[in-house]
Amino acid sequence: MTRHITIAPSILASDFSKLGQEVRDVVEAGADWIHLDVMDGHFVPNITFGPDVIKALRPHTDKVFDTHLMIEPCDPYLEAFAKAGSDIITVHAEASPHLDRSLQAIRALGKKAGVSLNPATPENVLEYVLDRLDLILIMTVNPGFGGQKFIQAMVEKTARIKAMIGDRPIDIEIDGGITPETAPLVSAAGANVLVAGSAVFKGGSVDSYAANISAIRKAAEEA
Ligand code: DX5
Ligand code: ZN
Repeated sequence: MTRHITIAPSILASDFSKLGQEVRDVVEAGADWIHLDVMDGHFVPNITFGPDVIKALRPHTDKVFDTHLMIEPCDPYLEAFAKAGSDIITVHAEASPHLDRSLQAIRALGKKAGVSLNPATPENVLEYVLDRLDLILIMTVNPGFGGQKFIQAMVEKTARIKAMIGDRPIDIEIDGGITPETAPLVSAAGANVLVAGSAVFKGGSVDSYAANISAIRKAAEEA
């Protein structure tokens, strides 16, 4: 049986000097969503971009903007990321002491709400917010940088989270170290959305992006 897998390229691995073009190119190559990694140099040891960059990219595609906030605090900025054109806003459980409130705030802004878990964070933090969630983002590397090695223990965590959500319509998204080799492991464990940065943007052309996306998709869908 083949399942539909959503591929969400992370523009973290793209050429920042031509972001608009990179977004158009990766969409032409078959991207389903655009994954936007926002880092603050405080919650994670790297700094990327904020709402103004997302707003500038918004006219370049009508694909889903999947915004991954690696910032602490997050609550003061949710409205800005919503207004910039995010469709999904994901906050980290570790960066949100009032997680239930943050998730309510995202939905009140008319956006889909996600929670992300660092590799060392156990899945039980999700237990009492499942009904406020549209997406769970499982980090399979420690957040902050692209191109890191996939952490194998997260496959079992993915399967546990899949069992935990039951028949709720919650997307399970995996982020970090996704390649045609690791994609089938998490797909078989129940993930339906795969983020990939370096494995999509290697090659630097629409043709290579298309080949990279289809290799990941094929490996995941056949798992
Ligand atoms: C890491 C980011 C990821 C990153 C993935 O903190 O959240 O989205 O871009 O990059 P790769 O696919 O290269 O591991
Ligand atoms: Zn991410």
